[in-house]
Amino acid sequence: MTEPPTTEPSELRDVALAIAADVVTFLAEQVHKQHEPDLKSSAADFVTEVDRASEQMISEALEHLRPGDGLLGEEGTERSSRTGVRWIVDPIDGTTNFVYGVPGFSVSIAAEHNGELVAGVVADVMHREIFDAFRGGGARMNGRSIAPRSTTNMESAVISTGFGFLPERRKHQAEVLVEIIPHIGNVRRFGSAAIDLCWVACGRVDGFWEEGLNMWDYAAGALIAAEAGAVVHGGPSPQVTSEMAVALAPGIAAEFSKLLASATP
Ligand code: IPD
Repeated sequence: MTEPPTTEPSELRDVALAIAADVVTFLAEQVHKQHEPDLKSSAADFVTEVDRASEQMISEALEHLRPGDGLLGEEGTERSSRTGVRWIVDPIDGTTNFVYGVPGFSVSIAAEHNGELVAGVVADVMHREIFDAFRGGGARMNGRSIAPRSTTNMESAVISTGFGFLPERRKHQAEVLVEIIPHIGNVRRFGSAAIDLCWVACGRVDGFWEEGLNMWDYAAGALIAAEAGAVVHGGPSPQVTSEMAVALAPGIAAEFSKLLASATP
């Protein structure tokens, strides 16, 4: 009889790390070429042949290393799980940055077991920074333990956010931003939600919020931020959801969450 595959969070993290290392090499070679993107939900929502190839690489590697696991990928790969483990994959998070050759795009690979996120890896390709976490095991950048900033003054806090691709969504996001910006130190828009969440985790920003992300954008990054010690929630929901993703340094979490709630009609 063959052994059932492990569901140990640290071992699932190791699988994600191994696959991400290969994808980073591939994406780093591709970024210097010109890419003519296809459009998805709007004229601003890009996908390239490299996004698809990256997803295929990850899918094939998982099929080989973890047959029977489920998979949900941004570019359409979907397999149901026979093991209780499902992988959630964004083959390039920050495709706009990738297309323009701007550093700040990533590959994001998360594993959930019986519906609970247990392992995550976000690899920032151009900065060669690999963030990882597993449930109960803390979070790291290139193997070194990370933690959020100790900021307590919201008027000095630097908070990142992002904008979706549909005009109505963006209009609403801009309205919320107008309510928030007078009360914080400054705002940043870097272009990869997965990296934004990791940068809360390692203290490069004090917080991040974005409305309307997809699970592949936030799954790995949200676990990394939570395991690093950030306060992570979904606005009104205790969990990050596709409605809202919030990650904050603990010292500003209560105050910023209140502000966001009052700014989000
Ligand atoms: C996008 C990025 C961006 C965020 C968008 C996402 P994609 O993901 O994470 O930072 O603002 O909402 O859709 O499309 O590049 O994988």
